[in-house]
Amino acid sequence: MFPRRGASEKEVLEELEEKTSPDLTFDSGRILGSMCTYPHPLAIEVVRRYIDRNLGDPGLHVGSQRVEDEAVGMLSELLGLKRGYGHIVSGGTEANILAVRAFRNIAKTENPELILPASAHFSFLKASEMLGVKLVWAKLREDYSVDVKDVEAKITDNTIGIVGIAGTTGLGVVDDIPALSDLALEYGLPLHVDAAFGGLVIPFAKKLGYKIPDFDFRLKGVKSITIDPHKMGMVPIPAGGIIFREKRFLEAISVPAPYLAGGKVWQATITGTRPGASALAVWAMIKHLGFEGYKEIVRRAMELSRWFASELKRIPGVYLIREPVLNIVSFGTENLKEVEEELKRRGWGISAHRGYVRIVMMPHVKKEHLEAFLEDLRGVVKAF
Ligand SMILES: Cc1ncc(COP(=O)(O)O)c(C=O)c1O
Repeated sequence: MFPRRGASEKEVLEELEEKTSPDLTFDSGRILGSMCTYPHPLAIEVVRRYIDRNLGDPGLHVGSQRVEDEAVGMLSELLGLKRGYGHIVSGGTEANILAVRAFRNIAKTENPELILPASAHFSFLKASEMLGVKLVWAKLREDYSVDVKDVEAKITDNTIGIVGIAGTTGLGVVDDIPALSDLALEYGLPLHVDAAFGGLVIPFAKKLGYKIPDFDFRLKGVKSITIDPHKMGMVPIPAGGIIFREKRFLEAISVPAPYLAGGKVWQATITGTRPGASALAVWAMIKHLGFEGYKEIVRRAMELSRWFASELKRIPGVYLIREPVLNIVSFGTENLKEVEEELKRRGWGISAHRGYVRIVMMPHVKKEHLEAFLEDLRGVVKAF
């Protein structure tokens, strides 16, 4: 019911506190299956200070727009591109939709089709429905990476592009992007890399010596990349990123927005009014942590994943789906449904899909949380 008279701030906050009390919080150490985390204090401060900035009307907020451009520039550079074109958007979903939209608009095919791995995120289902692009699913190999031969077999005159994933949602697997890039170049097709999760993990993990395939703009076939600062970037939600190699992709999805303060401007994003504070927070976190800071976060997360995977292997009845590639460890058990329900009942923020439970070593996940989880898991698996 819409209240007739307002309540005091104190009353409103108290009511909210009570209403949100069933929520799990990141600082509780119970959320083990999310790709989000508690944001960095600096990013929170930046959002608080610049909460009113609207990048949907950059004529008003010229400085913020420049900062967004700089943030896109720094992310592009991280991904091996001197000058990229893109935006800080609402998340990986919007970024993927924008990439598919650009590919479709450039291809101008009557019956557009997009080839993507069976492991792709469900955001592509939304893109498909909204954009009228048929999804053509490519099979996975035994190691859960996409079967590049199957991708090639599925190319037709209707194909508008190919998708590869650098850090799949369920297992953190990185597809053979170099092979996909070669294929894309051979057939003259654009390749989109969904690195929503891996984009802020892989560059640092590679530097730490982990053997992970190349995945970014250093490969010539890669025309766009999704990279989400609200995952491993420690930036508050919403903060996704879409970067294109060439300006023409951005132009292909831009519409005129004539009534704004900046005169005639062009908008490529799906959202119109959109938070400048998010872009400023991305910029601030990159400036503050730098390559070395992110590398340290990733080092910890990768080491924890390897330790956790080795502990899981010691539990009878529990098996790894595959050795971790990034900081995601997924495991199965017998009676998975019952095990999942009991772990949830004990307050663990996890979920089982496709026959396994996914644990994501985000910055808020500490060894003691995992030890407590392992203790519960041992007991629960034994009981079923
Ligand atoms: C690989 C991948 N792509 C895209 C997304 C969608 O991102 P968002 O939830 O920020 O829209 C996710 C989310 O988990 C993801 O793992």
